[in-house]
Amino acid sequence: MFRAQSRHSDAREAVIAGRDHTLAHMEQYAAEDDSLASAREAGQRADARPVSPAAGAALRFLAAAIGARAVVEVGTGCGSSGLWLLRGMRPDAILTTVDVVPEYQEAARSAFRRAGFPANRTRLIHGRALEVLPRLTDGAYDLVFADAVKTEYPDYLTEALRLLRPGGVAVFNHALEASPFDDGPLSAPGPETAAIRETGRLVREDERLVPLLLPVGEGLLAAIRDPDAA
Ligand SMILES: C[S@@+](CC[C@H](N)C(=O)[O-])C[C@H]1O[C@@H](n2cnc3c(N)ncnc32)[C@H](O)[C@@H]1O
Repeated sequence: MFRAQSRHSDAREAVIAGRDHTLAHMEQYAAEDDSLASAREAGQRADARPVSPAAGAALRFLAAAIGARAVVEVGTGCGSSGLWLLRGMRPDAILTTVDVVPEYQEAARSAFRRAGFPANRTRLIHGRALEVLPRLTDGAYDLVFADAVKTEYPDYLTEALRLLRPGGVAVFNHALEASPFDDGPLSAPGPETAAIRETGRLVREDERLVPLLLPVGEGLLAAIRDPDAA
């Protein structure tokens, strides 16, 4: 019995170690240049929780795959995810990015400028996401990236569905933080976990959406707004 349990836990540790190697490889593969590395380091110093390189590379990939011309980012931070998105967007595309902390947005503005993006490629809006998003135009955006208040994710999804054109993509960060495998036997999920899970459920059950959970960084939940759905 003891030997069987020990073999089981050895196997589990081997799976975890293998997964850690895979994740480390993904982060290493997503090579950052100096602009991306210094934006991420500034974000870490300021406790603005920048996206990891692998998550950033996935955002860039998605923006490039759909030829994004107009992107909304919820949670500018010090500009890491914005820079990755700009790298994937078309050369004339505009990133609209929202945050409540002016100092973070100033750091992001500097990061965008240092990376060579002219000021007219970015629109930094200071304010609360749920006050700013309703003012943006219906169906005018190719991609919405949500990385601000986790308890607001279901509301961001509602706004994203209004903002996205058919074929546009919504992406939610921190999706893996709501893994049901992390629940303790007695603890109820907190409000952030509950909101991320609710968003995952809403995305999966919405017939207008094509969902994908990507295990990069903190986990990205992506969903295409199906162009053929009503
Ligand atoms: C995880 S950080 C964003 C990191 C950023 N995406 C990056 O990769 O550098 C979350 C951000 O959400 C911002 N935030 C917090 N509450 C907000 C709100 N109600 N509306 C908009 N942004 C908010 C914070 O100031 C913080 O910069």
